[in-house]
Amino acid sequence: MPHDDPASAAVSTDPLFASCPDRHSTGSEKWDHWAEKRAADGREILPVWVADMDFRAPPEVLEALHARVEHGVFGYTIDPPGFAPALADHLARVHGWQIDPACVVGTPGVVTGLALAARMLTKPDDEILTFTPIYPPFLSLPQAAGRRSLRVALARREHSWEVDFDALEKAVTPKTTMLWLCHPQNPTGMVHTREELLRIAEFAAKHGIRVVSDEIWNDLILDGSEHVPFASLDHPAARDAITLVAPSKTWNVAGLDCAAAILPEAGMKARWRPSGGGLVPMVNPLGYAAAEAAWLHGDPWRRKLLGLLRHHMQLVGQTIEQIPGLSWIPPRATYLAWIDCRETGIADPQAACEAAGLGTSNGQGFAGPGFVRINTACPTPMLAEALRRLHVAFVK
Ligand SMILES: Cc1ncc(COP(=O)(O)O)c(C=O)c1O
Repeated sequence: MPHDDPASAAVSTDPLFASCPDRHSTGSEKWDHWAEKRAADGREILPVWVADMDFRAPPEVLEALHARVEHGVFGYTIDPPGFAPALADHLARVHGWQIDPACVVGTPGVVTGLALAARMLTKPDDEILTFTPIYPPFLSLPQAAGRRSLRVALARREHSWEVDFDALEKAVTPKTTMLWLCHPQNPTGMVHTREELLRIAEFAAKHGIRVVSDEIWNDLILDGSEHVPFASLDHPAARDAITLVAPSKTWNVAGLDCAAAILPEAGMKARWRPSGGGLVPMVNPLGYAAAEAAWLHGDPWRRKLLGLLRHHMQLVGQTIEQIPGLSWIPPRATYLAWIDCRETGIADPQAACEAAGLGTSNGQGFAGPGFVRINTACPTPMLAEALRRLHVAFVK
């Protein structure tokens, strides 16, 4: 199975990642949220919260976007002929996973895909199971769809986060009909092993649960381990699963709203977007252009990025070691650092960081109170400044 060898990627000093255009007043959720606060109280906050990167998208993606703009016509757009084959090519090359392009459907976001899967394949009042801590929409979307959220905490071991199968068996009920997997996982950066995935598949088959696997982080594995797509397992539960992927995290095109659902059978495609009851738009043509270019031509850029992110995680680890009360399990994937602040005795670590000029994500929203999440995908000097402020927040 092909996967990325960490030793093969030297620390990147590439100009691609050396700086970022000023994002203030561009409508950036990450930057303008804090700018509004600054206008109110005059304090400058360095934002390390929202999961997008402070880098320009790869030149290959920008070229494809320029070409699409040059075409000049932006009518209603269905999946272009190259979209599904580009994804299939990428998944085969990078993850050794052969999919049927006929089962791919463009979707304007992975979160939208989760919401559609819930509406299409569960009934009102059903329970949708997920492992916590977790990216907040996993907690709020079931209720928004008139379903219930069933949560099972991941077990924290010395060097890893793991599924607690005993707790899982205790939590499941006859109403549990769907499991939302986040693989690799946000916020912990855990990567489920093949063995763990097979146990999840067994559990799902035993209880008649459909698995939806959000694999938006699949191309950002830091430690060289293999990403095993859940649906690639040789198991009946895997053959029934839906996989959600997108170019948005890896190539920093989240604002272009283009993701893909890989459905278990092509016949489901006709019901997919209509399950949204008219609320789900088509994918836009620029999103498609970016996705296709990223999947076909974005791999050299992605590999350089991984080298930088590995270096950044080392910097985070060194800082955490110097701050009494902080601990973490270094992530195996993503560019996110999930930091346990509970031993500091500070009740609201997010507020402490903010007071030190650092805008982190609050673990509370992930069902992980006492933690903060830091996004490390920014130029190294900016990360160094963020880590200096992290130190200030906890070491007076
Ligand atoms: C696990 C996970 N799923 C989905 C998303 C958002 O995906 P989209 O913007 O395609 O809805 C994120 C963004 O951080 C995420 O971390």
